[in-house]
Amino acid sequence: MKLLHVVGARPNFMKVAPVLRAGAAAGGVAQLLVHTGQHYDPAMSDSFFQDLGLPTPDENLGVGSGTHAEQTARIMLAFEPVLDRHAPDWVVVYGDVNSTVACALVAVKKGIRIAHVEAGLRSRDRTMPEEINRILTDQLADLLLTPSRDGNENLAAEGIPAERVRLVGNVMVDTLLRLRGAAAEREMPRKLGVEGSDYAFVTLHRPSNVDDRDTLAELLGALNDLGTRMPVLFAVHPRTRRRIGEFGLPLPNGPVRLLDPLGYLETVGLVDRAALVLTDSGGLQEETTVLGVPCLTARPSTERPITVTEGTNRLVASRRESIGAAVAELITRRTGGGFRPSRPEGWDGHAGERVIAALRDPRTTVTATS
Ligand code: UD1
Repeated sequence: MKLLHVVGARPNFMKVAPVLRAGAAAGGVAQLLVHTGQHYDPAMSDSFFQDLGLPTPDENLGVGSGTHAEQTARIMLAFEPVLDRHAPDWVVVYGDVNSTVACALVAVKKGIRIAHVEAGLRSRDRTMPEEINRILTDQLADLLLTPSRDGNENLAAEGIPAERVRLVGNVMVDTLLRLRGAAAEREMPRKLGVEGSDYAFVTLHRPSNVDDRDTLAELLGALNDLGTRMPVLFAVHPRTRRRIGEFGLPLPNGPVRLLDPLGYLETVGLVDRAALVLTDSGGLQEETTVLGVPCLTARPSTERPITVTEGTNRLVASRRESIGAAVAELITRRTGGGFRPSRPEGWDGHAGERVIAALRDPRTTVTATS
């Protein structure tokens, strides 16, 4: 069996790692790794390859940034000859970024089977580019590998036949559990002078939050308010840094520290010890749930509702006042006993093996365990 794995952007890298490892351990599985180059800065890409122990990609398409149409089109054009050259049995795509849908669209027209890892998630917010990517990729895929049962339910509601869908669990949790110890060894809280004290860890990069001046100003105001309660470590995505500059917004200061984008181990090491996380990321909603760290997600909806119903996540409006109220409530709840780490079904460190089992025999039922 020959697998061609496609990754492009930061959140893909921790998802492919356990599948590559499981494929290598299984024997009889030839694997190729293609990086579209959607993310290209060393801090957004290379450092993740190092932290995760990923092999150098067999192909790097070097597509870089652009509008959605430009980026998607460039990925498709560059991916087609790669697919012709390697003729895999399966193209395996991950998550919901532009690289995911672009490569699935190329593969389906060539009659090459597609497996989608992290299928079935839905925010029901079509203004999110990722929601469009999820819906289209799931329509194209032959094998839909879901991280949680709500994914299976969403796909059934869209008329996707159950025999194409497998609940394999959460591959990102495989990586988190494998590398949590290595992340702690980086001693990031000590290096940033917050060891032993409450601090908040923040990431914000969604277009809906950072591409609108008023919303971004509200969020930066919320960070200044949060800074009056505890030190705030804000890892700033390149998109966000650019927008702050373009809008001429004052940078938060004092107890709010702006950091360059962090590597995987640095991030996990800081999240694991944080008093709270404020984010609009998809992955951090899941990681905080597993680590038992309270998370406020500055978005109106989530494609990962299990992190709210079973985990530590709570949605909050991207307004200064709403975030302030949510933070106050969290602090009260923490002193009253706090959160326990939660492991939804199949978030057990073995999802990568179940992905490989499903690919080897798509007709066999592979069931995730709690
Ligand atoms: C992409 C994904 C998003 C994911 C995020 C993680 C899509 C539609 N969005 O959003 O789901 O949560 O990655 O980071 O695929 N840039 C750099 N260096 C880089 C990459 C990007 O400076 O290595 C800057 C460029 O100015 C670029 C902007 O960030 O225009 C946005 O990058 P892009 O890949 O379009 O989307 P993200 O916002 O990173």
